Amino acid sequence: MTGRRGRPRSGTDRLAGKVAVVTGAGSGIGRATALLLAREGARVHVVDIDGQRCEDVVAGIRRDNGTASAHVLDCSDADAVEALATGILSEEGRVDVVHLNAGIGHAGRIEDITMEQWRRVLDVNLWGVVAGVHAFVPGMLERGTGHVVITASGLGLVPLAGLAPYTTTKFALVGMAEALDVELRKRGVRVTAVCPGVVDTGIVAASVFSGHAEAVHSRAGRFFSRRGAAPERVAADVLSALRRPRSIVVSIPMHVVPVWVLHRISPRAYLALASRVVSRIAPFGSHAG
Ligand SMILES: NC(=O)c1ccc[n+]([C@@H]2O[C@H](COP(=O)([O-])OP(=O)(O)OC[C@H]3O[C@@H](n4cnc5c(N)ncnc54)[C@H](O)[C@@H]3O)[C@@H](O)[C@H]2O)c1
Repeated sequence: MTGRRGRPRSGTDRLAGKVAVVTGAGSGIGRATALLLAREGARVHVVDIDGQRCEDVVAGIRRDNGTASAHVLDCSDADAVEALATGILSEEGRVDVVHLNAGIGHAGRIEDITMEQWRRVLDVNLWGVVAGVHAFVPGMLERGTGHVVITASGLGLVPLAGLAPYTTTKFALVGMAEALDVELRKRGVRVTAVCPGVVDTGIVAASVFSGHAEAVHSRAGRFFSRRGAAPERVAADVLSALRRPRSIVVSIPMHVVPVWVLHRISPRAYLALASRVVSRIAPFGSHAG
């Protein structure tokens, strides 16, 4: 069997004609997932706060003979997300896959982080996902089928000093995904938290580095460029989760699994190791001085 442009299809035609929504799809992991889902035949709704990025991704998909449309909105605006779901459902009749991926980073010592900054990270990374679940899951339950993929993080499985708001949201997302997956799977809807390691995307450039952390912003950027995996690897893991649903998918396992296992066995040993890593890469973390 061949796909568009004669590309061989390898059992992934289950996505042909399916309707997918990807948030934060203008860059990095969301962009890579949107492009991959479109190549696999899905009709992709590209959602991002940045209109130009949205248009660029849609244009790329269309150039590749895929089907996509752009939606510019802030995922933390629950009314806008509700209107997005209503609009797509009335246009398409259903949503099969929603990848709630939009997220922002924030680094800094706790005393340098304002309440406004805490709220923004929680609004985008956590409430934005809650809004997506609230808007899209009822339609999936009505149809008795659907898959919600949430981009959490390796930092939803192990903590790291200097990233308290980010870590707070990602731990919450892992818990939410596991609870929802157990609750909804018997009704035909699966929920997966994807937990990537370090990925070379725009996230460091877009992140706020408060107070002492500001000094290591460019060093963190270089670390992500040098050590980060390609976002396409995470997109491939999202696709594999759609084919073989699981509550948690660790992406770039070599970055995450060893420390996750260590943290489960001995939190104290993990924290000692994490302190050493933080002191080399980002020496503003509380236990790194
Ligand atoms: N890059 C990594 O190492 C890494 C690791 C683990 C998890 N993640 C998670 O992956 C997800 C995607 O991040 P990325 O690394 O691809 O970053 P990125 O900055 O390259 O892409 C994020 C995209 O989300 C968009 N966005 C930001 N705020 C938004 C909002 N309020 N509403 C709509 N769109 C918004 C941005 O415009 C951008 O296009 C995030 O949830 C992030 O926490 C990233």
